[in-house]
Amino acid sequence: EKGTYPHYMLKEIDEQPAVMRKIIQAYQNDAGELAIDSNILEAINASDRLYIIAAGTSYHAGLVGKEYFEKIAKKPVEVHISSEFGYNMPILSEKPLFIFISQSGETADSRQVLVKIKEMGHKALTVTNVQGSTLSREADFTLLLHAGPEIAVASTKAYVAQIAVLAVAATVAAKHAGHDVDFDLIQELGIVANAVQAMVDSKEEIEAIAKDFLETTRNAFFIGRNVDFFVSLEGALKLKEISYIQAEGFAGGELKHGTIALIEDGTPVFALVTQKPVALNIRGNVKEVVARGAKPCIIAMEGMEEDGDTLVLPKVHSLLTPLVSVIPLQLISYYAALHRDCDVDKPRNLAKSVTVE
Ligand code: M6R
Repeated sequence: EKGTYPHYMLKEIDEQPAVMRKIIQAYQNDAGELAIDSNILEAINASDRLYIIAAGTSYHAGLVGKEYFEKIAKKPVEVHISSEFGYNMPILSEKPLFIFISQSGETADSRQVLVKIKEMGHKALTVTNVQGSTLSREADFTLLLHAGPEIAVASTKAYVAQIAVLAVAATVAAKHAGHDVDFDLIQELGIVANAVQAMVDSKEEIEAIAKDFLETTRNAFFIGRNVDFFVSLEGALKLKEISYIQAEGFAGGELKHGTIALIEDGTPVFALVTQKPVALNIRGNVKEVVARGAKPCIIAMEGMEEDGDTLVLPKVHSLLTPLVSVIPLQLISYYAALHRDCDVDKPRNLAKSVTVE
């Protein structure tokens, strides 16, 4: 099934431009406009707060989803790790709508929350890659990712699909609620698909980065601000889970509140620069770590790049940058794991779907 690919992970990374195009197509109505089930729209707009519940990579996608619902649809959102929410529920709003994000639709930690909130009489929407999965069957509504089966333990194409589907849902809900949406998401996602293609076509350059920065290191840091912070968390998780390099993602400004103590000569620090309002701040954080000996890998979006940056990402809409900036991080993890002779598709101690609490 993986054809000529050495690993499912590489195949799934390569499928991402097609996944973007598939989502644009799957969520279009006959009039060529983005659309989702009207019952879902009504549930979103009848709620006073969305609670996104997920684990691992899906949780990281949820953090980006919060941006979309708040910035585009003006809907307040909380994002929670399912294993925490299940046993330590916050005070809920009066009319909550729960959104479960799960590639497999089988994650026990998330299901446990779904069972509890259903008992409390609340409504739930599941965003999943697997039609007929437990979380899909037990929720009131489902939005499918259309990413095709994801086999590698490390989630890649499901993450971009989750973010794209959340962008679609937030945009359609915004219009349904009468909010102005000042961009054409179909067009913007098309631009993203091309940018993702350009990134997956840059494998040689990205493999060289992995070699240069991660060949011998024991640890690595990922920093960003705003959505770049959320992608940093995902980049660090990917690197940890398949290469076993200790990695952490941080909000750029947090470094000086403790973590900077760990920076030594040659410590790799991956910095994402895709958000104009905070570009100077994150570059300031890079200077702080460089002054302590860090080896910075700066990944900047076109229009924000500076001399000496390591990689330039093709320009896309500022809200959609995670769909592009994550690609080099996935590939960097892949090549780091490959160079260390790790079992890329089946990392130690991990299962594709975590069906135990
Ligand atoms: O199937 P789910 O999306 O619910 O899975 C959640 C996590 O177990 C999953 O994203 C995990 O973190 C991945 N292995 C990360 O690559």
